[in-house]
Amino acid sequence: MALPLLTLPKAELHMHIEGSLEPDMMFALAQRNGISLPYDSVAAVRAAYEFENLQSFLDLYYAGAQVLQTEQDFYDLTWAYLHKCAAQGVRHTEIFFDPQSHCDRGIPYETVHHGITQALRDAKTHLDISSGLILCFLRHLSADAAMATLEQALPYGEDIIAVGLDSSELGHPPSKFQAVFDRARAEGLLTVAHAGEEGPPEYIWEAIQLLKVSRIDHGVRCVEDPALVDYLIEHQIPLTVCPLSNIKLCVFESMAQHNLKQLLELGLCVTVNSDDPAYFGGYLLENMTAAQTALDLSDRQMQQLAHNSFRASFLSPQEKQPFLEP
Ligand code: ADE
Ligand code: ZN
Repeated sequence: MALPLLTLPKAELHMHIEGSLEPDMMFALAQRNGISLPYDSVAAVRAAYEFENLQSFLDLYYAGAQVLQTEQDFYDLTWAYLHKCAAQGVRHTEIFFDPQSHCDRGIPYETVHHGITQALRDAKTHLDISSGLILCFLRHLSADAAMATLEQALPYGEDIIAVGLDSSELGHPPSKFQAVFDRARAEGLLTVAHAGEEGPPEYIWEAIQLLKVSRIDHGVRCVEDPALVDYLIEHQIPLTVCPLSNIKLCVFESMAQHNLKQLLELGLCVTVNSDDPAYFGGYLLENMTAAQTALDLSDRQMQQLAHNSFRASFLSPQEKQPFLEP
């Protein structure tokens, strides 16, 4: 009997809201805000989504985000993603947002924050989807800029569950952000960080030891360091793995070569996520299906992935419990 993956309750823990900007919404918002795009059509946007590495993607991702201007734009973006969640059996989502990519072009922090959080609240009421919001610092910018962003967000800290670290990984180790993560934790925020996507295992160690993260985002390069793999297993530090992203950004040559199954069979707490679904060709369900097919994952392994997604979430034990029952 085929596993009803669609209706299996799932949580998503690694999704950049700006990365859910579909080309048709990009065009609609550009028109609404009087912005001209360097593309003739939606098809031309899609055709441009051929990446050779993380940076080649980030260049288009930051350019695309410029159509987001008003609170309504951030609301519409978030609401469209949450509708996708509802259609795919995603019952809980912890989403990233990148305030620096908006505030640095003159959009007030409050505009971004209020648009996203209103949609998250509406999703709880109308779609029965719970959520968490994770503020990410752009690691290619300075540690001082990250600290200033944190200070700006703290008055709204009640709505934020954690801080994270994203953007260009190589050359920007977690250690660069130790002070800002210390400050975030002192304010009661949890921490996560992208590490071991393109960067070496040492960056994963730094994220754990210096930033005291609860989860590693990506982390697939951990296999290069057996002691690190042992540590991740022993402490059950979750990895939020993004299969389609890793293929589109050439972290692995093909899905058949992805190490998701190896990580799962080693006993790591791995989860599947969509990262930037509008850019990488699929939301959570498409990521799970692509991995299942290419790696011949069993029904039990698919259930394990769904189980891990709640286990690794920032829901309280009471909130997790209904999703963890066999
Ligand atoms: N920002 C959006 N997607 C990202 C990714 N996969 N890695 C680092 N930064 C990102
Ligand atoms: Zn990411």
